[in-house]
Amino acid sequence: MTTTLTQGMIQEAADFISSKTSVSPKVGLILGSGLGVLADHIENAVSIAYQEIPYFPLSTVEGHAGELLIGSVHGTSVVLMKGRFHMYEGYGPELTAFPVRVMKALGVEKLLVTNAAGGINTSYNPGDLMLIADHINMTGRNPLTGPNDNELGARFPDMSEAYSRKLREVAKQAAEEKGIPLQEGIYVGLLGPSYETPAEIRMFRTLGADAVGMSTVSEVIVARHAGIEVLGISCISNMAAGILDQPLSHEEVIETTDRVREKFLNLVLGIIPKL
Ligand code: HPA
Repeated sequence: MTTTLTQGMIQEAADFISSKTSVSPKVGLILGSGLGVLADHIENAVSIAYQEIPYFPLSTVEGHAGELLIGSVHGTSVVLMKGRFHMYEGYGPELTAFPVRVMKALGVEKLLVTNAAGGINTSYNPGDLMLIADHINMTGRNPLTGPNDNELGARFPDMSEAYSRKLREVAKQAAEEKGIPLQEGIYVGLLGPSYETPAEIRMFRTLGADAVGMSTVSEVIVARHAGIEVLGISCISNMAAGILDQPLSHEEVIETTDRVREKFLNLVLGIIPKL
């Protein structure tokens, strides 16, 4: 599915959201599989179902709700996507990243993206949290293909600091204060929805990847194009294919993200006021 998303459509979605709240969010939050728990900690939250928002697609995956929440976390105004859009659902990359465009139009300057990911680095364990230092886009797609709107961003945006060094330091400091161990590594983003083969995982390890998932990269490309600073955190929900002698399942992913819910929440609540 290819859709050309124009500035008018972005503005229409943003205007609709603004009509429901007086809050101008400065920080955007996109929470992955099973990590939506932060939603319960947003003060004075206004909730808007995705289906109400013009041009928003619907999230179809188990473990992903479809609602936008606007409010504040310890005094920081936020907009939170509870549930995200994936290319494996059949959406084009520009559509999966459309909410990031809308966040920009709402005034968002910083974006925190989280996801569940398979651990490729064999020193990792399920339940670890990994700060994303950089990504490898292996989806074969890019949300910026097609005509470029120069008002939205540059034709050839720089990706040399896709995940802000400064924000990574902020996250490390918050993790240290809370006593939460944090890995730091490279996330490889794939199209999915089949999990990888053991041979693919060996290849990605050789290429320098530490964790693998099926989201995030298109959102981050659009965020950088829009001049939004990005912080990314993966929850290692399982070891990637071929590392352990057991099959992978979405149930395992959800079980692990449920298990680390408190730790994850604690970390994110420590980070947001520092952003
Ligand atoms: N591979 C791809 N995506 C994932 C995985 C995985 O092992 N775990 C969670 N998301």
